[in-house]
Amino acid sequence: MTKSQVCLNNKIDLFSKPTPLEELTRVSSTYQANFWVKRDDLTSLGAGGNKARKLEYISHDAIEAGADTLVTLGSIQSNHARMTAATAAKLDLECHLILITDSGNSPDKIEGNRLLEEILGGNVSYTTASNASAEIDRIMERLHSKGKSPYFIEGGGHSKEGAMGYMNCVTELLDQKSGDSIDYLVTATGTGTTHAGLLAGFAQKDVDVDVIGISVARSTERCEEEIRDILTELNQGGGSIPTNIGDIIVYDDYIGEDGYGTATDRARDAVKSVARLEGIFLEPTYTGKTFGAMLDLLNRGELDAKSNIVFLHTGGFPGLFVSRFESERVWTK
Ligand SMILES: Cc1ncc(COP(=O)(O)O)c(C=O)c1O
Repeated sequence: MTKSQVCLNNKIDLFSKPTPLEELTRVSSTYQANFWVKRDDLTSLGAGGNKARKLEYISHDAIEAGADTLVTLGSIQSNHARMTAATAAKLDLECHLILITDSGNSPDKIEGNRLLEEILGGNVSYTTASNASAEIDRIMERLHSKGKSPYFIEGGGHSKEGAMGYMNCVTELLDQKSGDSIDYLVTATGTGTTHAGLLAGFAQKDVDVDVIGISVARSTERCEEEIRDILTELNQGGGSIPTNIGDIIVYDDYIGEDGYGTATDRARDAVKSVARLEGIFLEPTYTGKTFGAMLDLLNRGELDAKSNIVFLHTGGFPGLFVSRFESERVWTK
């Protein structure tokens, strides 16, 4: 396999690297496999998470394009929106967040990520999911008419640049732990950007690790499509990351009947278990669902017993502090 043409140097350093790779000794002795956690929740910007790696490449692209304002879209508790606001603050850029609520109006409570965005500053407007694209057009036009140079970042940092952040993470991880000794890397899969970057990163290094995605919102088919699209985009301009990467493994059976952003019993149990065994916080929307799914897959024999598993902690800590989780008596059950 030849190497990809994507240039992983095209980034702005936004946080300290490497993030720690820690052995989960008590989880390992409880659950019959060898677990490590890659602590991307500890990317040292704006309360951390996987968006920091994506935004290193995205903000580089924005600045190359002459942007002075970052605009993005997200749900009301979007980690990506919070991290975009933190990136804008650090890089002395303006920021406009377009946030989706059911009513299209401001939420009843300013809490979790939304509270941190208030502290970080920047502008916010609200819209419904169905009006989102019209609202993006409105904000972009308004900024242009004021003489600004806005750069629009897709929700979740979904882009080839975002995926490059996770190609870079693979290099960092392999420096910390020899690839041969990793059987599985397990990640939450939302837009699929992180997943695509990990696949591309391992393929580029010619290291055989199964990347296991746990979908937090979309069907397996939709995730696969999004991941393939990003891999194809990474190849445009002469790149040679294989798009026939083999099976793209995404499980969509852990989303829960109430869908994205709700706590399942399994996610709750995983959050409590990892906190009580290791003193590490997960949250119900992404990492709790993913960790719980990983244990279930191991239990069902879909992941080999005694294997070496790296869990990618993608962050989302502020999502623990939202009232919908408190009111479900999530933690006392
Ligand atoms: C905490 C957390 N984990 C995982 C993800 C999923 O990442 P991706 O959109 O790259 O699939 C997100 C994205 O929204 C996130 O905020």
